[in-house]
Parts: sequence; structure tokens; C-alpha cells
Amino acid sequence: MPDELKHLPLIQRVLAREKDTPGALLPILHAIQGGVGYIPDLAVGEIAHALNLSLAEVRGVISFYHDFRTTPPARHTLRLCRAESCQSRGAEALAAQLREQLGLDDHGVSEDGALDLRPVYCLGACACSPALELDGQLYARVTPERLRALVAGCREELKAC
Ligand code: FES
Repeated sequence: MPDELKHLPLIQRVLAREKDTPGALLPILHAIQGGVGYIPDLAVGEIAHALNLSLAEVRGVISFYHDFRTTPPARHTLRLCRAESCQSRGAEALAAQLREQLGLDDHGVSEDGALDLRPVYCLGACACSPALELDGQLYARVTPERLRALVAGCREELKAC
């Protein structure tokens, strides 16, 4: 929490700008996440106070939308396609490999903070299934070996820091 204090000026600027607009909660949450990278716990109380909502109401909205994060983002975001075409061409085996390699369910941040794993339902690369996106870059016809190398590359980079 003390580290979150550095985000307070940004949170206050967003609240001052947005709090009186109708339906302000979502724009406020997006603006804070856009500026900070996630929704710090400190922001929940500030938002609740500014919008005259309960803490539970604000937390409920944050948890309802999967795109809102309550922890700092990982260094890399990996989105594995789980839609039909990719499923029929090995995405489930890749998902199982990721679960084992990262120690995660299909969604979450690896313990070392290297990777944020998220499922996605079609990346528009169905003809080249299975596909994934790593930090916004598309990878197609992904093999287990290629996936293992991509994940290892993300983790090695972390060790080098
Ligand atoms: S189904 Fe995976 S890219 Fe379309």
C-alpha cells in the first residue's frame, strides 16, 4: 500500500475530471488502469468516496470485468487462443503444457511475474492454428517446442535483470 501512494495524484486527477459524468465508474477504472497499469487497492476507497458508492460496489465492478487488474502487470502477456479452430489443432495440449510450465490455471500471473496468461477466443488466424499472441505479436502454427521456447525466453529475460 505505501508504494501505491505514488499513484494517488493520478487517481485524484482522474476522479476530479470524471466523477461528475454519468456512468463515471467504468471510465474512471479504465483511466486509472491505463495510467497505473492496474487498479491499486488505494484507488478503491478513493473511487467509492468520490462516487458515493460502497467499497463492495466498486470491488464488485472490478472483479466482474476480467480486463481489470488488481495487481501490477506481468512483464509479458501471453494470450492463447482457445476457440474452435485452434482447439481442433492442438490448443488444448498447449494449454495443458502452459498449466504445467507456469503452475497456473488458464488465467493468471506466473509466480515469478514473468507472464500473464490469458485465454482468448479467436485471434483471426484460424487458417494457421493453433495461434497465440505474446505482447501483441501473433504466433501461428505454434508447436509445443515453440511454446516452450517462447515461455523460457520470457523467463530468461527476467533472470538477466
Ligand atoms: S480460432 Fe484460433 S485464431 Fe481463430
